[in-house]
Amino acid sequence: MSYRRAPPDSPYFILRRGTARERGEEGPVSGVIVARGLANFMRPALGPDGASKLLVTELKDVVVTRDGARMLSSMSFSHPIAWILQDAAKSVEKSVGDGTKTAIILIGEIAKRLSSLVSPKRKTQICRLIHECRFAYELALKRLRELASPLDFGHPETMKRVAMNILRARGIEVAVDHLAELVVRAVLKVSKTIGNTVYINPDDVQILKQNIGSLYDSELILGAVIDRSSDRGIMHLLMPRSVRNVRVALIDTAIKPTDKFVRMRIYRRELIFHSPEHMRSMLDEHNEMAVEMARRLISIGAGAVFSRRPIHEVTAYELAKAGIPAVERLVSRKRVALVAKATGARPVVKLSDMRGEDLGWAELVEERRIGNYQVIVVEGGERSRVATIILRSSSEKLLDEAEHALKDIVTAFSALAKTPAYVPGGGATEEAISFYLTKEAEKHEGWRQMAIYALASALEQIPISLAVNSGMDPAEALTELRSKHANSLHHYGIDVYSRRVADMYEAGIIDLLPVKEQVLKTAYEVLAMILRIDEIIDRRSAKRYAEDHVREIREKKYEVKIPD
Ligand SMILES: Nc1ncnc2c1ncn2[C@@H]1O[C@H](COP(=O)(O)OP(=O)(O)OP(=O)(O)O)[C@@H](O)[C@H]1O
Ligand SMILES: [Mg+2]
Repeated sequence: MSYRRAPPDSPYFILRRGTARERGEEGPVSGVIVARGLANFMRPALGPDGASKLLVTELKDVVVTRDGARMLSSMSFSHPIAWILQDAAKSVEKSVGDGTKTAIILIGEIAKRLSSLVSPKRKTQICRLIHECRFAYELALKRLRELASPLDFGHPETMKRVAMNILRARGIEVAVDHLAELVVRAVLKVSKTIGNTVYINPDDVQILKQNIGSLYDSELILGAVIDRSSDRGIMHLLMPRSVRNVRVALIDTAIKPTDKFVRMRIYRRELIFHSPEHMRSMLDEHNEMAVEMARRLISIGAGAVFSRRPIHEVTAYELAKAGIPAVERLVSRKRVALVAKATGARPVVKLSDMRGEDLGWAELVEERRIGNYQVIVVEGGERSRVATIILRSSSEKLLDEAEHALKDIVTAFSALAKTPAYVPGGGATEEAISFYLTKEAEKHEGWRQMAIYALASALEQIPISLAVNSGMDPAEALTELRSKHANSLHHYGIDVYSRRVADMYEAGIIDLLPVKEQVLKTAYEVLAMILRIDEIIDRRSAKRYAEDHVREIREKKYEVKIPD
């Protein structure tokens, strides 16, 4: 390791050698260039007529996608600002499941406009502008909420329309109606109403892929699918592979007698048998306890048994004789929770504590093969609080894209449950906010006015991009759109299918309020962070540099100088 000597007036020489540094005016400027670059990359993919990207990862995986977050996560960047944008897209996807491309486009467009307003050398101006930008964003959020209409969360048709819009925008053209129907049924199944609020845990909707058939063959299971990546299925060959309408026992530990053998092993003590009879009697006692456990399960009425840890083979044999399937080693608490939610069974720790009311109910417990895996299907029917969508398609890439889209729809619905409201889509909302901001800007002056204008003009890039991607003339489309909004027709936007400016409510093109809110909030937060950066200090190459330097010194030490 080597350090440069630090002259009193320059703190930078204390950095490790090899540290890359971008300073002063170049910091924010290079951040802006990256943000613009990514916005330009995203723009052609926006909307249902957007293009897909084919990305090849380091492991030679081919990803074909239109999902903004998936695009960014499949790429590797060397610029740290790109990582910040990657994280921003991920966080938008995780919190609302949609709107990632819109967020990145907005960040790039606003950064471009703000940075062109001030000379890069006068950093204080940028900070001032960011401050005013916050004011502009608050105006935009206020207008966004005014434009929203309440959405009837339990109404399946409205929810289906929302799901279909997201699926189409992700490039899924086949079986859109069928998939939207499945995901809406799944979400309604897992939703819980407490007071006046609906809650959805996205983890309660499982999505599994099967690389056969077509998307039309995808199905919904009102229950859980316990994946078995190894060969552990229903544990005994004599047990039935499928049972219907049974009560389900769920044990959170092992079903095994804790006998003297085990205790001896725990304390690492020796067990001394005085005679063969003594040994036999102990084994008999052990087996009798195992049989007793099976009898207990049978007597309280269990028709299928699940255990988080192993089940003794004698117990399993007794259960098999009674025609009861048993699944051992669920291992993870997540799988235990899935069975509990699917059947309503209460997991118990001690078998002796188990009562009839702890048992759940399953319409079907079955061992099946899905894809490459052996799985146990536990259908709880109407009582189930988990749902599983089995996606089928012969195209692996389509399966991956559909899986991501469905997961995002579930996340979007869980955000929607908290804020059940929608806004017109197709760039109508962005144009309406932009129109409002332009009018508001006239009431202000100086930096504040410039910030409001910058946000207004950046928002217009959304309808413009939608028009360009669908092959419309952007100038014509924008002029028509502006004239509609000037006449207070704020629900008019770009309908990419009919390629005209149209009423978005009539065309059924709607976006979710929580998605648009999150997009605006993330765009502001990330933008403020990027623009404030005035210096990038990158230590990535410092280690290599230090190693090279040490090697150089060593080589010098052993260098033999031959005198002339
Ligand atoms: N039929 C349609 N006509 C016009 N615009 C549409 C239509 N359907 C959806 N849109 C608009 O497309 C935009 C969303 O496009 P897209 O889903 O590609 O981007 P995103 O949601 O920002 O990113 P991602 O879905 O990758 O997270 C929204 O503004 C939405 O209103
Ligand atoms: Mg989308």
